[in-house]
Amino acid sequence: MEKWWQNTIVYQVYLRSFFDTNNDGIGDLQGVIAKLDYLQSLGIETVWISPHYDSPMDDNGYDIRNFLKVSEDYGTIEDFRDLLDAAHARDMKIIIDLVLNHTSDEHPWFVAARDPSHPEHEKYRDYYIWHPPKYDALGQRKLPTQWVSWFGGPVWEYNPPTDAYYLHIFSKKMPDLNWRNKAMREDLKRIIRWWVDLGVDGFRIDASNHLEKNWSFPDARPGYEHFSSLPKHHTYLAELGREIFKPNDLMIMGEAGGASRAEALQYAGFDSDEFNMLIQFEHCWVDCDPTNHVTPGKWAKGTIDLPRLKHSFAHWIDVFKGKGWNTIYWANHDQPRVVSHYGCDTHDYHTRSAKMLAYVLYFLPGTPIVYYGEEIGMTNVDYTKLSDFRDVEVFTEYENFIANGASHDVAMQALRDRSRDNARSPMQWNRMLHAGFSEHPPWMPVNNNYEVINVRRQEQDGDSILMTYRHLLTLRKEERLAFSTPEFFDLDHPQFFSYRTTGAQHTFLILANFKASPMTCRLPDELQTYTLYLHNLEHDLDEKSEQFEPYEARVYRRLKSPR
Ligand code: GLC
Ligand code: CA
Repeated sequence: MEKWWQNTIVYQVYLRSFFDTNNDGIGDLQGVIAKLDYLQSLGIETVWISPHYDSPMDDNGYDIRNFLKVSEDYGTIEDFRDLLDAAHARDMKIIIDLVLNHTSDEHPWFVAARDPSHPEHEKYRDYYIWHPPKYDALGQRKLPTQWVSWFGGPVWEYNPPTDAYYLHIFSKKMPDLNWRNKAMREDLKRIIRWWVDLGVDGFRIDASNHLEKNWSFPDARPGYEHFSSLPKHHTYLAELGREIFKPNDLMIMGEAGGASRAEALQYAGFDSDEFNMLIQFEHCWVDCDPTNHVTPGKWAKGTIDLPRLKHSFAHWIDVFKGKGWNTIYWANHDQPRVVSHYGCDTHDYHTRSAKMLAYVLYFLPGTPIVYYGEEIGMTNVDYTKLSDFRDVEVFTEYENFIANGASHDVAMQALRDRSRDNARSPMQWNRMLHAGFSEHPPWMPVNNNYEVINVRRQEQDGDSILMTYRHLLTLRKEERLAFSTPEFFDLDHPQFFSYRTTGAQHTFLILANFKASPMTCRLPDELQTYTLYLHNLEHDLDEKSEQFEPYEARVYRRLKSPR
């Protein structure tokens, strides 16, 4: 039986940067309510909001201090209820972020856990993961292992009062929870049920594949295999699914990288107890240069490996075909802006490449997740000072780059290309002060291109990126493309992204030049029977032409043949 979450369109709101209604420079829950009409006009039916919980904001709310309280930055529980009511009155759904791997170090559980004189120390110590120090030959205290945190630096932080290290695979203000502890799991379940009872429609499960650790703590560097994707985390997720997610018919999107085919179905197969769909990142980093050791890994900007990108889409569609459910998305709050990453963010091809990226993605099957600002082609930040950045990860990694021998300029460029802050600058609503986001200087600087790239301007321009998104998302629903099965042409072609897919009424051919250089290609023979339906050029084109301009994309269609 078809589920509502299969044919919905999701929009991810990064709460802090979406819309500020009380002019303190920080986006808020009332800001989401104020923009529900806008979202609805875009064709959005489900809104996923980033963590709205009370937090010291070391990692913008992924560090939770109180799971049952709304952050004062974002409003109150009344505002949250208003949001649910306002969304539900429009037949829209609200999905919240659920962070289960860690808490803030200011969470009362950890405050008790780290302090032997706290009356509840005994109970809460085991809610977290501790290890006694090691000592070298000279009797100097050493880290228990060389494991490296996802934000750079060691995963261990020494806590003098207990003479032990605690584990944190993200920042040191985010101690990892001990999922082997049943009392801890029961406490988290009470919290989850509380939000379900309030009326949320589902969850996005944060960092879900990290819940289990290798408790023999073998030494290794970076050691990811000892704290990521260990088989037992599935048991914990399935327990939540059986007891809470399934009985309440919630929409569950789980974040987990690096899953094999079998494991993906374990997460999000139709018969899985864990999630309804998986958020994986294989397509997000197909342009890393492995030879760069100065700003290495995801920070190393290289050329786009288009075959890899296409194979990745084809792979995930195939994994879930008939067996589970797929998500499609370009980017989120952890990646650069897609138009800067895979398209072109300079004036010449900004609009054209943003539309090309939309054409190639939004005819694919599964549940789409549009990231705020993507629909107007928001770009990476243009910051020139380190102090303009906000993300906790930026500062550790900047130090690492300098230690690796990078100059300040090289390090800054890596941040402007790759840091998570690229995707977190304030939404560009109009050309007024602070891009119409707030009347107060925002918590992080607005991108200087807001006078050109903004919602208002694109609402008045029939050829804008925003208009393309409205059109495509509406079409997607009408044609029920969520349930389609594409056939890709020439997955190994380094420049041409093309496929055929059939919706409820039409068959479509999507043909796109993914790169900045012109391209000549052979058009499929069947093209004779199609007519050109959409294209992204600023001028007319010959629909039989085998020449493609930079980033040119076309969609042809014909009536679906009767069965
Ligand atoms: C996830 C989130 C990321 C966060 C991390 C720790 O990967 O998407 O933003 O920093 O988990 O909670
Ligand atoms: Ca505010």
